Amino acid sequence: MNITWDAGKYTEDFSFVHRYGNDVAELLDCGAGSTVLDLGCGNGALTKRLQEKGFLVTGMDASPEFLAMAKETYPELSFIQADAVSFSLEEPVDAVFSNAVFHWIEKEKQAAMLECVGRALREKGQFVFEMGGAGNNVRIHGELEKAFAEYGYSYKMPFYFPSIGEYASMVEEAGLQVRYAVLFERPTELKGDGGMRDWIDMFVRTPFEAVSAPEHREAIKSRAVEALRPVLYKDGKWYADYVRLRMKAYKR
Ligand code: BEZ
Repeated sequence: MNITWDAGKYTEDFSFVHRYGNDVAELLDCGAGSTVLDLGCGNGALTKRLQEKGFLVTGMDASPEFLAMAKETYPELSFIQADAVSFSLEEPVDAVFSNAVFHWIEKEKQAAMLECVGRALREKGQFVFEMGGAGNNVRIHGELEKAFAEYGYSYKMPFYFPSIGEYASMVEEAGLQVRYAVLFERPTELKGDGGMRDWIDMFVRTPFEAVSAPEHREAIKSRAVEALRPVLYKDGKWYADYVRLRMKAYKR
């Protein structure tokens, strides 16, 4: 999915993405000095964290907006621009790491992406990642779907959120052995009173391209936010109903 990112707003208002990513990085147990690819590095915050853990890390992302920010913020790190579904590396790495990226890739392109990961790893290299899993944001997308329908539009959920079984099979098809897999709920606090509306503005873009009347876009968002309030607004705070899929696999 090609999206033009507001890298500044993303970094300021959605910093929980890389803060939660620190836990995912803990799964990497190759030693200091190991080479690591941060696949879909975004603003580079986790690339920096990986370097601080002692890895020789390279960040890779397709977004020019994110890469510009990553290079400016961390000029000491190495970043390359490439697409996760078609990249190749000159030298294989000890580990591929990825946080909150793979759900953006269409289901039909996942096998190609996992093949690239398999090729990029040295023998026995590690693959550690987290993405949105089955049931992720089900309430948010459910209310958006209803609001779209009320205004005469159909809502196509723009993400891929697989179950453990489905995704583990795909990872194994790419020549990797899954040793750890978990699917868990992680309600995630959003920033401020406009948190849910901001989340929808930042992350749910493509479905709104089909909404021809600008006033309908606004009305749909307001309608969905109000319908979500009784379930996802608690004690003065908005929470997104995240479900994470986390895995660790090794190249056979
Ligand atoms: C996620 O990290 O699960 C996610 C983030 C934005 C949109 C959809 C999913």
